[in-house]
Amino acid sequence: MTNKFETLITNSLQLVVQSLKNADVVALPTETVYGLAADATKDLAVQSIYRVKGRPSSNPLIVHVSTIESALKWGSFSVKGLKIAEEVWLDSSFSGAVTLVVPLKENTENELSPYVLAGQKSIALRLPRHPLFKEVLSSIDFPLAAPSANRSNYVSPTCAEHVKWDLDGLIPYILDGGKSQYGLESTIIDIQTDIPSILRLGSSSYEYLQSRFSDLILSKYENSKAVPGLSRKHYSPKAKIHLNILPENKRNFYVGFGSMPCDLNLSLDGSLEEAACNLYHVLRQIDRDKINIVDFAPIPHDGLGRAINDRLKRAAST
Ligand code: TXA
Ligand code: MG
Repeated sequence: MTNKFETLITNSLQLVVQSLKNADVVALPTETVYGLAADATKDLAVQSIYRVKGRPSSNPLIVHVSTIESALKWGSFSVKGLKIAEEVWLDSSFSGAVTLVVPLKENTENELSPYVLAGQKSIALRLPRHPLFKEVLSSIDFPLAAPSANRSNYVSPTCAEHVKWDLDGLIPYILDGGKSQYGLESTIIDIQTDIPSILRLGSSSYEYLQSRFSDLILSKYENSKAVPGLSRKHYSPKAKIHLNILPENKRNFYVGFGSMPCDLNLSLDGSLEEAACNLYHVLRQIDRDKINIVDFAPIPHDGLGRAINDRLKRAAST
């Protein structure tokens, strides 16, 4: 017998909102992955996020807000940056999710917990579209700091059960929002200079974003220092991963893409959207089933395939 408490998967917004007001850490669904959220203005609340995740204190957190007005309170946006923000955060036809990195607004240092920024002079801001996350934000009067709700360097969670496997007994509540719509984290775009550049690939693809912002550049994301917390080895299951294995060369447990004989398939139809949505479920399933070595079929390197390949490369890194 242990007297460790059990983390509750709940549908109760009230419980979750009360916890956040008490400076607790809770897991919330977003349209990308589940987040580990706490009051971004309270030191103790933000420090708890780092402790629960086992995250190095040098790795800054994304601040989640509900309106452009609150984003403007924390971040300093150029005229062009503001237009980008309105498009990625408010346009109902926009596909995928984007986090924007902007210079920190002056004189906000005292209001935001310094642990959120981990020494950066910029701030990463996101306006989630998930209805439950939006409801939580509309019930509180502070912004939410939230990294992905996994233990540091492990695979991000895309359903409430994933969070429970990782963090049971470490947080009081997980708000259940079912399976995440996109299944990949937000795309992070740096808009501190006049030319926007992608720092992390994610659920809004480069090709799609470039069709909207023609001067967007992609080059920086391959620099390991572009995003403080993104190491070469990340999103890592326990299993050893082999990439780009054709069906005729498979020798281990085989994860396919498109119609082919395999043990698990990211998308039978060869849909990159579906593969993105299933990727973390598959990586976690492999560990749950204690499979030691896994061969992955090649994934086309365009659209969301770039982000999927980026995650698989990090998952395969030793
Ligand atoms: O979809 C997502 O983005 C999820 C949901 C919960 O919002 N969040 C997420 O957070 O993926 P996290 O902490 O797992 O990844 C955020 C990344 C980290 O690698 C961090 O280093 C980077 O964003 N980051 C945070 N602030 C930054 C800044 N000011 N400049 C550059 N990168 C920053
Ligand atoms: Mg993460």
